[in-house]
Amino acid sequence: MALVGSGSALPATSISNQELSQRVATDDGWIRSRTGIGARRVAGPAESVTSLAAAAGRAALERAGWQPNDLDLLLLATSSPDDLFGTAPRVQAALGATNAVAFDLTAACSGFLFALITAAQYLRTGAMQRVLVIGADQLSRWINWDDRSTCVLFGDGAGALALRSCPLDEDGLVAFRMRSDGSRNACLTLAQVDDQQPLLGDLTAQVGGFRSIQMNGQEVYKFAVREVPAVLAELLEGSGIDAHQLDWLLLHQANQRILDAVADRFAVPHERVLSNLASYGNTSAATIPLMLDEAVRDGRIQPGHLIASSGFGAGLSWGGALLRWHGPAG
Ligand code: ACO
Repeated sequence: MALVGSGSALPATSISNQELSQRVATDDGWIRSRTGIGARRVAGPAESVTSLAAAAGRAALERAGWQPNDLDLLLLATSSPDDLFGTAPRVQAALGATNAVAFDLTAACSGFLFALITAAQYLRTGAMQRVLVIGADQLSRWINWDDRSTCVLFGDGAGALALRSCPLDEDGLVAFRMRSDGSRNACLTLAQVDDQQPLLGDLTAQVGGFRSIQMNGQEVYKFAVREVPAVLAELLEGSGIDAHQLDWLLLHQANQRILDAVADRFAVPHERVLSNLASYGNTSAATIPLMLDEAVRDGRIQPGHLIASSGFGAGLSWGGALLRWHGPAG
């Protein structure tokens, strides 16, 4: 699997910490010192997971030099779909990717990494030749804006990667690991409301709908600083790669303190840790491709660069991947 093109899209509206403090009892100093976040984008009435994912996907296709109908598969990682039956087909239609099968994959903040690894299986078996993987979330839909412990953390956005099959010795997915632990599910949920309506006699039926995001921040923090270094250490050891050979550390953007703790564990200089938390906060499945696209476009990530990536979050789920950026040439 070669990583050949990236794209991203963000809602037009940005809300600063200062502005948010007019809504809940918080302040810029608290949010920045605890999380590194300075602002977040929030989707307006004309924006959606579909529109953001399609814009990011279109940009990735253009950078790869592909037409929409070149695609065999469109995988959309999202936990805030426009349609629970699947949002990927809407994105497929918006792009005009008529030859692609399109479906959603849900794994919260690990979603993009899990989707990328899933795409690699289709490409490596030869079943597919060209795949678009998109991570897009609109968690602003599911935030309790009166809960200061969660509303300051999240934002909306989308990022995409164009992937194609390639000879094994050029494979850009150098190594990967994926993990789940449902016994710790309660740490971070976006769960169904438990609401029953009378149906017939004594029978009731559940009314659909979701509660807002519930999070035990400290438990999630401890989970991240324990599991992310462990999975990355396993990957590096298993591949015979030393941390100093990494060009970039590209972690799920949840909290600057988590990024710094992981970087310190591997003695990766902080200038090689990619972060855009200050501008966008935690955009869930979008953070990794959004950050990657930004660093490709501004020239930090160059063809041949080795990137250690890790996604982690609700599920609980987490994983890691060593990636080599290919770029559109060749
Ligand atoms: N502004 C001001 N004060 C606040 C705010 C806020 N926005 N939020 C909480 N506080 C207060 C609390 O009420 C508490 O006050 P108290 O001591 O009087 O009770 C105090 O600050 C400390 O609260 P803690 O929750 O202990 O703060 P902590 O240092 O743990 O930081 C944080 C909270 C930033 C949420 C941290 O725990 C964290 O980053 N956790 C990881 C979260 C994460 O990464 N989640 C996403 C995973 S990705 C996914 O799958 C969606």
